[in-house]
Amino acid sequence: EKGTYPHFMLKEIDEQPFVIRKIIQEYQAEDDSIKLNEDVRKAMQKTDRVYIIAAGTSYHAGLVGKQFIEKLANIPVEVHIASEFSYNMPLLSEKPLFIFISQSGETADSRSVLVQTKALGHPALTITNVPGSTLSREADYTLHLHAGPEIAVASTKAYTAQIAVLAILAVDTARVKGLDLSFDPLQELGIVASAMETLTDQKEEFDRLAKEMFETTRNAFFIGRGVDYYVVQEASLKLKEISYIQAEGFAGGELKHGTIALIEEGTPVIAIATQENVNLSIRGNVQEVAARGANTCTVSMKGLEKDSDSFVLPQVHELLTPLVSVIPMQLLAYYAALHRDCDVDKPRNLAKSVTVE
Ligand code: F6R
Repeated sequence: EKGTYPHFMLKEIDEQPFVIRKIIQEYQAEDDSIKLNEDVRKAMQKTDRVYIIAAGTSYHAGLVGKQFIEKLANIPVEVHIASEFSYNMPLLSEKPLFIFISQSGETADSRSVLVQTKALGHPALTITNVPGSTLSREADYTLHLHAGPEIAVASTKAYTAQIAVLAILAVDTARVKGLDLSFDPLQELGIVASAMETLTDQKEEFDRLAKEMFETTRNAFFIGRGVDYYVVQEASLKLKEISYIQAEGFAGGELKHGTIALIEEGTPVIAIATQENVNLSIRGNVQEVAARGANTCTVSMKGLEKDSDSFVLPQVHELLTPLVSVIPMQLLAYYAALHRDCDVDKPRNLAKSVTVE
């Protein structure tokens, strides 16, 4: 039920702080350590390489998850689009572990990979919002997202839930391996939940920005570096699927290798700047497009902001910034669709779960 909300999408955007708190509760043991299925733990300890398989928004969450597992647990990770992997399988390592990320648990492209990798005898873990789903039943192990039903076609709370669960999984793996980490994901996720609330309380701000940037535009570009590059890919998918604006997410440094040719007077370019090591370089990219007439908007993290920024995000742990930087992107997409009179919850040509290959 939508309750007082005009659309499921807006309700689901607003639910994100509660979903994060629910995940903390579900994955916390009584002594405040991480509570996780022992078999999943063992599978993570045994593997020499993780293969994340997913589609769409879940694929974008997988890209963020790769950072966690590589940086925290020190295990190499490949992230693959399910529909590509299924007919073009890369060389596998000796002890692969497959992680399927899927809100619905019903995506046919992902299932096709699961069927193939199971036939090869490789273990599979599904991270899903629907525990009884096909991908959950057919995999060896399941981790639940606890996001509650997601009705809007555009995925929002499932994305942030997937990232949160992947962070917990990565830290747990690191701890079991005996790696010394100062990062406490459950505590840091608590900070994230409050930061998310601060953002969802400022909707008018994003409504105004969306009107200004997207009401009549033909196209839009999003840029970021490092983990922000992963978030801008999600930002552009959100915008295009519900507002029908042609949008792309690019790595900041890649623009000058071709795409910058598309920048005209007034072209919207939205940059995310949450990472200290690339703060100067992403800002250089914003200047390059501004000099060619782009209508730029920078969303930065507190501590890294400049006077010209359109919006400053509350500070969270550097690894977890996608959980907060994506909220303005979801809200911008939502309001862009409203300003263009689009059917927010049921965009044309799309279905909530894609059960054909
Ligand atoms: C985008 C969106 C899709 C899904 C994709 C995978 O908002 O909803 O891109 O993310 O179809 O679906 P699941 O996660 O159910 O496998």
